[in-house]
Amino acid sequence: MAASASPGGWSSQATPSPNIWHWPKIYEVENRAQDATGAIWRALRSRHDWAGLDVVDVGCGDGFHLSLFAETARTVIGVEPHPPLAQRARQRLGGTPGVDIRGGAAQQLPLADRSADLVHARTAYFFGPGCEPGLAEADRVLRPGGVLVVVDLDAACSPYGDWMRLDAPQYDPGEVEAFFEQHGFDSIRVDTLWRFDDRASMESVLGIEFSAKVAQRALAQLPGRTIPVGYRLRTRTKPAGVVVR
Ligand SMILES: C[S@@+](CC[C@H](N)C(=O)[O-])C[C@H]1O[C@@H](n2cnc3c(N)ncnc32)[C@H](O)[C@@H]1O
Repeated sequence: MAASASPGGWSSQATPSPNIWHWPKIYEVENRAQDATGAIWRALRSRHDWAGLDVVDVGCGDGFHLSLFAETARTVIGVEPHPPLAQRARQRLGGTPGVDIRGGAAQQLPLADRSADLVHARTAYFFGPGCEPGLAEADRVLRPGGVLVVVDLDAACSPYGDWMRLDAPQYDPGEVEAFFEQHGFDSIRVDTLWRFDDRASMESVLGIEFSAKVAQRALAQLPGRTIPVGYRLRTRTKPAGVVVR
């Protein structure tokens, strides 16, 4: 039987993402503010330029990043387990040549073996121990020489990481780093700036990312409308061939 959004199907494999699930309009403000200088895109491109290639964005949310991939990629497939978000992504990207949105989860990608050159996931599912099924799936769908790239917030980097750890003291950035290293990833730090149009937008975004207490602390710490935010950009290349001796 095909996997579906029914109980036990792919939608039940989703990790709850309260920010974008419950406040998609504020998350849009957040996405527009993020990476104001394009540092993540530059780092991504320098590691594995996707021009002319087949790209998959796992946990694509409402498709915010798909258009930029689509500017130069051959094809772009967004995979999203939360049906309302997959629908918003279809509305956003409707008619864009070479772009398709599919319901599905990282643990069970709706894609053929060896069909992609770049599998990208940004702040989605690949958060450390427990994401092994998704790593195996990415490996299955990548062609030899293809790259899995995982972009995530750096909880060891002040000030944003300090606020993350205040709300999630059990989260251990060192353990997560060790996990990805053990699984063959090369990780780099990328320093970005989130820039908001106004202070009210910044306040609304901090309000969906943190508890009220931590959001207040963050606002008091940063009086302007920008936030320095560190990311980890992790890449793993699928071996291009087996050496036969
Ligand atoms: C914080 S949002 C980021 C969305 C998008 N990558 C972006 O940067 O705009 C996390 C996304 O991961 C999705 N997600 C949760 N569990 C997942 C899973 N098991 N496989 C794939 N995506 C998942 C959520 O539904 C949500 O859309």
